[in-house]
Amino acid sequence: MDATITSYNLSSAELLKTKVDARTAKIVIIGMGYVGLPLALLFSEQKLRVTGFDIDPVKVETLTRGGSYIVRIPETEIQAAIANGFMATSDFAGIADMDVVIICVPTPLNDHHEPDLSYIVATGHNIAPHLRPGQLIILESTTYPGTTEELLVPILEKNPLGLKAARNGAASASEFYVVFSPEREDPGNDTVARRDIPKVIGGLNPVATEMGSTVYNSIFNRTVPVSAPAVAEMTKLLENIYRCVNIALVNELKMLCLRMGIDIFEVIKAASTKPFGFQPFYPGPGIGGHCIPLDPFYLSWKAKEYDFHTRFIELAGEINLNMPYHVVRSAAAALNRHKKTLNGAKVLVLGVAYKKDIDDLRESPSLTVIELLQQEGAEVSYNDPYFAFVGRGRKYDLQMHNTPLENLGSFDAVMIVTDHSDYDYDRIVRESNLVIDTRNATKGIQSEKIVRC
Ligand SMILES: NC(=O)c1ccc[n+]([C@@H]2O[C@H](COP(=O)([O-])OP(=O)(O)OC[C@H]3O[C@@H](n4cnc5c(N)ncnc54)[C@H](O)[C@@H]3O)[C@@H](O)[C@H]2O)c1
Repeated sequence: MDATITSYNLSSAELLKTKVDARTAKIVIIGMGYVGLPLALLFSEQKLRVTGFDIDPVKVETLTRGGSYIVRIPETEIQAAIANGFMATSDFAGIADMDVVIICVPTPLNDHHEPDLSYIVATGHNIAPHLRPGQLIILESTTYPGTTEELLVPILEKNPLGLKAARNGAASASEFYVVFSPEREDPGNDTVARRDIPKVIGGLNPVATEMGSTVYNSIFNRTVPVSAPAVAEMTKLLENIYRCVNIALVNELKMLCLRMGIDIFEVIKAASTKPFGFQPFYPGPGIGGHCIPLDPFYLSWKAKEYDFHTRFIELAGEINLNMPYHVVRSAAAALNRHKKTLNGAKVLVLGVAYKKDIDDLRESPSLTVIELLQQEGAEVSYNDPYFAFVGRGRKYDLQMHNTPLENLGSFDAVMIVTDHSDYDYDRIVRESNLVIDTRNATKGIQSEKIVRC
């Protein structure tokens, strides 16, 4: 390789490293949601200069006055970040001044269960007019292999200065750098600190990967470079597909065990004692959150381009999507044993968040369970310490207020759909007429009132 080209490449990486080490590097994070905001706080804790960008004016206003809209992030953390120079804005013009741009925008599915990349596309169009040579653009949003190189880079390359993304081979002074690095956090998991989750980094060329490592080494204990953005994109999908398929497996085996009179949770506990080759996954009322129900379908959609049918993903999706229906059928059967019908029954659903101890409703199986119960004529209420009200979302419109955890005896059935730690399950069983437990939250409690399903 030409010596001047090598030195130019090195100087971009070295320049960024110098700035990161000196804490003068300027980082903007686009999308101040569940992923972007905690990431901004991690950088800020390490005294890096972070700007948070979001198109939602309420989020920008809340952050600007030192407030928080994510339950597990206390306002004091936002205020400490502001004291370290953190600011939130909706003004894209400031991007020209940044060294690193990290994109954390949503990647949902559309109504046809196909990838909706409109947020990434819009963000690319917003960044392009402000690009300058030497900048590092990182995509963190979960997506199918090929998105960074085939979709984002061409949009960024339509910039007024004619800058090109640095690729392998010839390099020039009019380049910017591109990386895909997936977010791997597990919301509500307090056993692994975020900085202990290794960060996978796939740059469009080795210099981009090196620059990405420099940035993330400032906040993560370990970075894992891979050879290309598509490898990093696929890594994230493999992780989520692995979870999705294994959860489907235990969901199916749970339904068999229920028929056979075997406690699947006892089986999983016993199997978990094997010191190798087994990792426990737990059954439930269905899968939720922004990742597991959606991400596998990003890959099955892309696979069709290659005449490839991802059968494991489809089968797991079918089993997991059926779980809320199984839960409602079980509730009807349990009420039937009490000589009651689901039609007209008063049912209290405990927990609407998609998993315990978090304030995230996205794709929550509780929402489906509530809708199915209502379709069957049940009079449904809910309780969730994290949600005073559930209004309209992408796929639901409940308009329901939180019901206090009182007069449990006035309900025909109390259904545990999300096993928040705050609940006193002994009391719930004691005061209820019938408890439908979809999470094994009542384990250890002996009562004829409990129906585990
Ligand atoms: N939440 C998780 O636990 C998690 C974990 C791993 C990966 N991910 C992935 O990370 C990505 C972001 O997820 P999230 O949970 O943070 O989503 P989120 O909905 O909580 O936040 C996204 C934010 O982006 C903002 N936004 C949308 N379009 C924008 C634009 N054009 N410019 C600026 N801001 C814009 C939204 O207003 C919102 O505040 C997704 O791809 C998701 O799959 C999420």
